Amino acid sequence: MKPLVWIVALAVLSYSTISGMVGHDHHVLIIAGATDGYLSPCGCVKPMSGGLRRRVTAIKQLSVPNMTTVIETGGFVKDSGRQDQMKAEAIAETMKLVKVAAINYGLEEARLGAGMAASLDRLSGEALVATGLGGGAIPVKKFKVSGPFLIGGIDPRIEQIGAALGSKLEPIDESVRALTDEAKESKLVPVLMTRGDLESAEAIAKKHPSLRLIVCSVKSSPYDAPRRVGDTLIVTPGEHAKYVVRIEWDGQAFTAYRFFDLGPEYADDKQAQEVYTAYLARVTSEDLLSMVPRSETDVFAGSAACAPCHAAEQRVWKASAHSKALATLEKEGHDRDPDCTGCHVVGLRSVNGFRSRAITPNLTDVGCESCHGPSKLHAMNPTKHKLAKVGKESCMPCHNTEHSPTFDFDAYWAKIKH
Ligand code: HEC
Ligand code: HEC
Ligand code: HEC
Ligand code: HEC
Repeated sequence: MKPLVWIVALAVLSYSTISGMVGHDHHVLIIAGATDGYLSPCGCVKPMSGGLRRRVTAIKQLSVPNMTTVIETGGFVKDSGRQDQMKAEAIAETMKLVKVAAINYGLEEARLGAGMAASLDRLSGEALVATGLGGGAIPVKKFKVSGPFLIGGIDPRIEQIGAALGSKLEPIDESVRALTDEAKESKLVPVLMTRGDLESAEAIAKKHPSLRLIVCSVKSSPYDAPRRVGDTLIVTPGEHAKYVVRIEWDGQAFTAYRFFDLGPEYADDKQAQEVYTAYLARVTSEDLLSMVPRSETDVFAGSAACAPCHAAEQRVWKASAHSKALATLEKEGHDRDPDCTGCHVVGLRSVNGFRSRAITPNLTDVGCESCHGPSKLHAMNPTKHKLAKVGKESCMPCHNTEHSPTFDFDAYWAKIKH
């Protein structure tokens, strides 16, 4: 079977068997995280995995009522601009829909500022934890209790977090010891989320053997089986909000580890869709697209200006997917989204480039000048102003591995040859 078929089969199988199998002492732990700003599968590649809306559906399906704890590793966004703030708030809100118990508050969240911590904490249902920071001015907790678990969170980049917030964090070892001591005292199972990698998680496990589970951060998919150091298991939800991990506590040990790839078999959750739609509406109404940085370039003529002299090229272009690229975004409500529009119009990053369909109607879509560059001078006097030869390199800024993984110049060029 193909991997995708396996994943679908596994997902169906697990859904049908999970609920019935959970015993009295069992408690389910669901682990999500590392959204990295990827709120939605971008649609450029099909089928694509991940996204907040599917994640909520999956978590709801994998939960057992009153016997489930959901945790989130944080790593909401990559930068700290206005759109990142909006994204972080949308992520926090969708996690509240699944009653998230704890979200690890780390550097990416701290960079959004202390004010945003209050907002994220409120929107998530007071879920933020930062074990080395909690109890101070920033509204985060040292630990959260949920079911049999005591959940803590750390990020090894404590100096940078301190600098971002203007507060001092405890050293990592002290934070972890505070977690294990408190767990022992209150007879709870210590679970630690860290924004560090596997190696640093293993080092923590060696130093603090009473930890039962560490959730670490990686730039890949979850492990086929949990890593183990003594009695401590190490797991990860992978990258880009593409997966969730489910594991059960049977009263003595963690068992039944599985991870789920959030493919199209998970429908969008309705409540999460509302949060997502509201997020896109905010992006549009604050007009973030008009604030993208732009540089000086030659002037564009617009695709229509080429038609009188290049009728054959124009026909090929009109029939291609490129001439409909903005409509594609409009259909999905992403046409004012700085995350998407640059590759679906002409010259978004130029002072002379696309502004909106109304203001620059000839710079919509992937136009002639998306590949040939600004050509106004040429259009006015073609023999005097020759255009440079272009080839494969003109495709790559848009057909990159993330948005066009099957790109092959010869095969793709054959479809738009002119
Ligand atoms: C880096 C450039 C880039 C960015 C950014 C980008 N796209 Fe695309 N998009 C592409 C390319 C290239 C394709 C064509 C991929 C292929 O067929 O190989 C595409 C195709 C698509 C398609 C598929 C059209 C179809 O019917 O097959 C959709 C939908 C889409 N993009 C939506 C989005 C959305 C939504 C975003 C933002 C969240 C986005 N894109 C961001 C480059 C980009
Ligand atoms: C400015 C960004 C951009 C550049 C540059 C670009 N493309 Fe595209 N390409 C796109 C987008 C966006 C789509 C998807 C359009 C849609 O369906 O809405 C696409 C779709 C395509 C498709 C259709 C894919 C399909 O499955 O039918 C082909 C073929 C293609 N591009 C070839 C090329 C080639 C070859 C080059 C370079 C010579 C190139 N493109 C340069 C953005 C770009
Ligand atoms: C997706 C990128 C892309 C788009 C869009 C595009 N072109 Fe091209 N065009 C190319 C590439 C690449 C070549 C060179 C092919 C080669 O060298 O064989 C080319 C070749 C040409 C040539 C021939 C150049 C020569 O040296 O013989 C002309 C004329 C031309 N394009 C005009 C247009 C016009 C007019 C449009 C819009 C209607 C357009 N192109 C849209 C990528 C594009
Ligand atoms: C007024 C007619 C006219 C218009 C408008 C025009 N071109 Fe051309 N184009 C020409 C002629 C004529 C040539 C051939 C020049 C030569 O071989 O000396 C040419 C050549 C080209 C070439 C091959 C490279 C070169 O400079 O010789 C490309 C690419 C090209 N045009 C793209 C475009 C694009 C893109 C537009 C629209 C922005 C456009 N042209 C608008 C007449 C025009």
